[in-house]
Amino acid sequence: MLKLILAAVLAFGAPAALKAQASFKMLAPAQGYALYNAREYPVMLSGAVFSFGMSSVHLKLYQGYVKSTNALLQRLKELEGENKTASPEYAELKRRFGWEFNGMRLHELYFSNLGAAPLPAGSSLRAALTAQYGTFEAWEASFQALAQLRGIGWAALVYDAPAGRFHNVWINEHDGGVPAGTTVLLVLDLFEHAYMYDFQTDKLRYARAFWAAVNWAEVQKRFGK
Ligand SMILES: [Fe+2]
Repeated sequence: MLKLILAAVLAFGAPAALKAQASFKMLAPAQGYALYNAREYPVMLSGAVFSFGMSSVHLKLYQGYVKSTNALLQRLKELEGENKTASPEYAELKRRFGWEFNGMRLHELYFSNLGAAPLPAGSSLRAALTAQYGTFEAWEASFQALAQLRGIGWAALVYDAPAGRFHNVWINEHDGGVPAGTTVLLVLDLFEHAYMYDFQTDKLRYARAFWAAVNWAEVQKRFGK
């Protein structure tokens, strides 16, 4: 049944809810006001990471977040132009911004940290994780345990640069639990749409497939040391 639903989404476009979110009147961008563009991820469509079908649906869903982020920004600008910043609509859209924006940005971080590139034995990231957790494998076990939590959200490795330490964190939905000021180094999508098509309810098998496909060169680049 799930495959049928996902196939329908693929065939007929984004769900009505996504379309509704993106149905605000679009204004021409004002000077210095840029909209976000959905990025391309050929490695996801290659079938090398997950199936073409699952990745196609996932990318379409991501494009919905980009559209909704743009639509939300445009609508806020309209309301500001109409002096309606005290309206319930303005307040609600302001509160919703982090959810839409992080839905866009976390997907970008997720897609781009896939592509199967190894982490060199002498990398600074490996050394820093080993220094904090005792062994690289101890950090990996902590991250993998996080990936098996119940519920929807994201498992992420973040780096707190001012303190020089890492945290494995659970991000609830998209906007709850993101430690302020940290850098997201590695992120794993744990919404059902990220794995049900290929792995059904087997999150452990999904997490293992994810692990085998991590683009460590990208993660190391985000660490930047
Ligand atoms: Fe997702």
